[in-house]
Amino acid sequence: MLPGPGVVESMASRLAAAGCVAAGDEAAELVARAPDEGVLEAWLGRREGGEPLAWITGTVLFCGRPVGVDPGVYVPRPQTEGLARRAASLLPARGRAADLCTGAGAVAVHLMAAVPGALVAGTDVDESAVRCARRNGVDAVVGDVDGPLASGGFDLVAAVPPYVPTGELQFLPVDVRRYEPPLALDGGGDGLAVVRRVVAGAARLLRPGGWLLLEVGGSQDRLVEPWLASSGFGPGLAWRDDEGDLRGVAARLDA
Ligand SMILES: C[S@@+](CC[C@H](N)C(=O)[O-])C[C@H]1O[C@@H](n2cnc3c(N)ncnc32)[C@H](O)[C@@H]1O
Repeated sequence: MLPGPGVVESMASRLAAAGCVAAGDEAAELVARAPDEGVLEAWLGRREGGEPLAWITGTVLFCGRPVGVDPGVYVPRPQTEGLARRAASLLPARGRAADLCTGAGAVAVHLMAAVPGALVAGTDVDESAVRCARRNGVDAVVGDVDGPLASGGFDLVAAVPPYVPTGELQFLPVDVRRYEPPLALDGGGDGLAVVRRVVAGAARLLRPGGWLLLEVGGSQDRLVEPWLASSGFGPGLAWRDDEGDLRGVAARLDA
């Protein structure tokens, strides 16, 4: 839609008043994607109510590529792009990868686009996430962690499981708590209930020398380390963002 004078600015003010942090960018995106003024007003109302922008427009940019996101499905985060890029650099051409807890399939989409001939399978317990990932071109199946996939032969396993400790869910932004699926966020008491099973599942799926890349936060790298060792992985290599916050751990299955 071509905005009239001042439309983006007035929408940005409304979004800012509703508590939107990136009000200007979001207003510009809503205006650019809305087919007409009626839809734009409806979209703005939904965003003022805190609904994720990606559910309203149906898409989010991930590693520079649009990824479809259906309402109800976890919105891929910019902080996961580092995991996706690292994974792409470790996956050989025509290699096989598994994206456990695939959600909308953003990590898998990046791997397929960035690695020539890569074969990528995704799993998720949430049927609506799997439908969404499939629409994004991912060979995704409904199932628990690694359950649906055959053992061995994978060069790489990527996973962004739920890893927020249950007691810390209350500290997430209010819109995230109100809208995004708890199944995507709640990692149980220590946050690592699914992570623990991802480590064991990755050891089953990977060929010797294959890589696991796992998103975790806080100081969870220290808790994960013993499970990596007991599942046959070498030392965990943690990576951090520019603020020094832990974003993930990579480990290689012993050859
Ligand atoms: C934090 S989201 C990450 C989604 C996606 N990988 C991304 O980065 O956008 C976690 C996902 O794990 C899924 N999930 C939760 N428990 C699971 C389990 N036991 N097995 C497979 N998927 C699970 C949720 O449905 C959700 O889609």
